[in-house]
Amino acid sequence: MPSFRLVQRRLRRRFLVAGGRDERMLGGMPRKPKTKCIGILTSGGDCPGLNAAIRGVAKAALHYGIKVLGVQDGFRGLVENRFIPLDDRSTSGILTYGGTILGTSRDKPHKMPMGGKIMDMTDVAVANARRHQIDCLVCLGGNGTQKNALQLKERGGLDVLTLPKTIDNDVAGTDITFGFDSALDIATEAIDRLHTTATSHHRVIVCEIMGHSAGWLALGAGIAGGADVILIPEIPYDLQKVADHLIERRQHGKRFSIIAIAEGARPINKTPATEEPKKNKKNRKSKVSLEETINLAKAEDIHLVQESLDSRVARELQRLTGIEARTTSLGHVQRGGTPSAADRLLCTRLGTVAGELLERGQYNQMVAVKGQECVPIPLEETAGKKRLVPENHPWINTARLVDTCMG
Ligand code: F6P
Repeated sequence: MPSFRLVQRRLRRRFLVAGGRDERMLGGMPRKPKTKCIGILTSGGDCPGLNAAIRGVAKAALHYGIKVLGVQDGFRGLVENRFIPLDDRSTSGILTYGGTILGTSRDKPHKMPMGGKIMDMTDVAVANARRHQIDCLVCLGGNGTQKNALQLKERGGLDVLTLPKTIDNDVAGTDITFGFDSALDIATEAIDRLHTTATSHHRVIVCEIMGHSAGWLALGAGIAGGADVILIPEIPYDLQKVADHLIERRQHGKRFSIIAIAEGARPINKTPATEEPKKNKKNRKSKVSLEETINLAKAEDIHLVQESLDSRVARELQRLTGIEARTTSLGHVQRGGTPSAADRLLCTRLGTVAGELLERGQYNQMVAVKGQECVPIPLEETAGKKRLVPENHPWINTARLVDTCMG
């Protein structure tokens, strides 16, 4: 049973439509949406705001009379034909929930691990979408998802629409991705908390923040939290310079320091693995098998567990400065929990703009943020590209002007 308020809203809508104030009216009759049925999936790493975005797309689509199906666990659910109906009731009350009610995975339709083999499952994915009479598949995800969605269009002829999601904020063609603002709040609060304990113990604390290729999160949280050193993948660091900065701070009576380091940050003098001198036969053998493992992991988009960057950096800085150091890796805490107000607003705006595009039958676009607007851009303009922090970005200048060492 729809609630009283819902009925009231619908009646009011009908009233406005009858007054000719709704562009869906054509000669007194509601215009038929160009899209009859959509599928929605969430793919890649989860983040706060996914449910708000699912809700935004679904509610706007339902508003236009479009049928909505959810696909479970990203592209894997599409291949395995796991669809669920999404209606007004199942998409109500999810705005504030973290994670994704649909589940997610990092699987790609064209390179999917199936029974120990990597298989191209594009045809199966498209056939399943057709079986459910899906006119357009709405894919919520980061860089990998933009590429996978474009592949479905180009190789399988399936129409798609995408929304830019990731705490890394590195999707090309959009000013911001959803999930970033929430993660920024979490990482900033963590740095605030580290400040009080670092001050009390006169320590250096190295805080590792997510961001494999892009340093937006470490840079943003580092500035917002007042980190003394910020190390990001785009600017290779020199640990001696960092150590000098820490010693100088101490000489000025500042007996603690916080280092915000992105997980993908790397030292200036790091020798690429391929150029490392060959050791004895035994070592060579183990190196080859490690490379094989890494290559296989890359092919399957698995992030390997390695010795943590924060502990390596802390150990080395302790040696160079003689100051006691500790580490904290924020890890998946940054991706959990309820979305910030800014993300809820952004997700609802992106989702409802997607709904309008579906109503008009405008497909194969990503809904991007450009200034104050949410606008469609062709998927080709974003797929396969990453938005890294440019060396001349104003945030870097800001950090340097408040005396933050950038390595
Ligand atoms: O892509 C978002 C992200 O959170 C990255 O910052 C991080 O490198 C990666 O996902 C971690 O992935 P997983 O959840 O598979 O460990």
